[in-house]
Amino acid sequence: MTEVLTRVLEGVTNGAAREGAAAAESVQKVVRARPGLAPDADADAQLHPAAKPPAAVEVVAGDGPAGQGVGNEAAQAIVLELAGVSLSFGGVAALSEVDLSVRRGEILAIIGPNGAGKSSILNIVSGVYRADRGHVRLKGQRYAQVPTQALADLGIARTFQNLALFPGLSVLDNVVAGRAHRARSSFVEQIAGFGRARRERLDARARAIDVIDFLQLSALAERPAGTLPYGLQKRVELARALVAEPEILLLDEPMAGMTASEKAEMAGFVTAARDRFGTTVVLIEHDIGVVMSLSDRVAVLDHGRNIALGTPAEVQRDPRVIDAYLGVAVEDDEDVARGEGL
Ligand SMILES: Nc1ncnc2c1ncn2[C@@H]1O[C@H](COP(=O)(O)OP(=O)(O)O)[C@@H](O)[C@H]1O
Ligand SMILES: [Mg+2]
Repeated sequence: MTEVLTRVLEGVTNGAAREGAAAAESVQKVVRARPGLAPDADADAQLHPAAKPPAAVEVVAGDGPAGQGVGNEAAQAIVLELAGVSLSFGGVAALSEVDLSVRRGEILAIIGPNGAGKSSILNIVSGVYRADRGHVRLKGQRYAQVPTQALADLGIARTFQNLALFPGLSVLDNVVAGRAHRARSSFVEQIAGFGRARRERLDARARAIDVIDFLQLSALAERPAGTLPYGLQKRVELARALVAEPEILLLDEPMAGMTASEKAEMAGFVTAARDRFGTTVVLIEHDIGVVMSLSDRVAVLDHGRNIALGTPAEVQRDPRVIDAYLGVAVEDDEDVARGEGL
């Protein structure tokens, strides 16, 4: 059953990646028909006293946004939280009352059709966008807009959906640039090039070399980043984000456009990075096979709403997810196998 659903979901999400508009349209019907979802009223009242109840509900029992459920894994520290976050562009609601809590050290995947609001979540967390309503909670502070100049202090680094490297600079220099924010030396010290500034430069270089080695890019360190194949450029971006030693790493489609073996390799590096640095990872990915094997939990977005959050297995059998993706409720394996609504 699970395997069949995986295949169906994979077909749909891959289809969505190619044909976002068509997939979004088929999902629309279900969104309108979706029954009300039970909010976690207590947690919401604490965080967001005057707000309407959140429209999303978590799949995991006892897994509320404030990390209730002491005594099981839900008690793990919450390092990042979105509470009732709404964002719109003109008349278009990109995010509607999104609640999401991310646990320390987990790999959390965000999936959903094109235009569902996935990148908007990362843009809210990294301060690119300001929430119209609701807030992001980081290190005990609430923000409608996370101050971008404080991202390093907040322990956040990210990669972008589209490559954002300096193509003419070497791989090494690109990765060193990921530590620029760590510089504590003054402008004058940096110009003079000695003392603290020199130590910082050497330290940044040493750490960059270490991360480059960790991601098996050493042989390419002196190559201009722009001359590398796409898959390797994505890995350089990961290196540049990791060299900042972030507590939270936000990856926007780190495997998009990759071959299956490149994706598997990248997934291995993401897991290794989490294991080595203890980094919490929030990533957006379309390949449901990768998502299911890589993630500890999966959040499903649909037209700006977080319709499910749980382990890969829980999300795969969640009727709301099946509805959203298939446009029909699935009764049994035969229905799935027929792939109705695809
Ligand atoms: N800067 C922007 N200006 C206008 N509309 C935007 C902007 N960013 C996102 N949107 C809109 O918000 C919705 C969600 O977009 P996005 O978060 O990029 O979705 P996803 O990453 O899931 O494909 C889409 O309808 C998109 O067109
Ligand atoms: Mg996106």
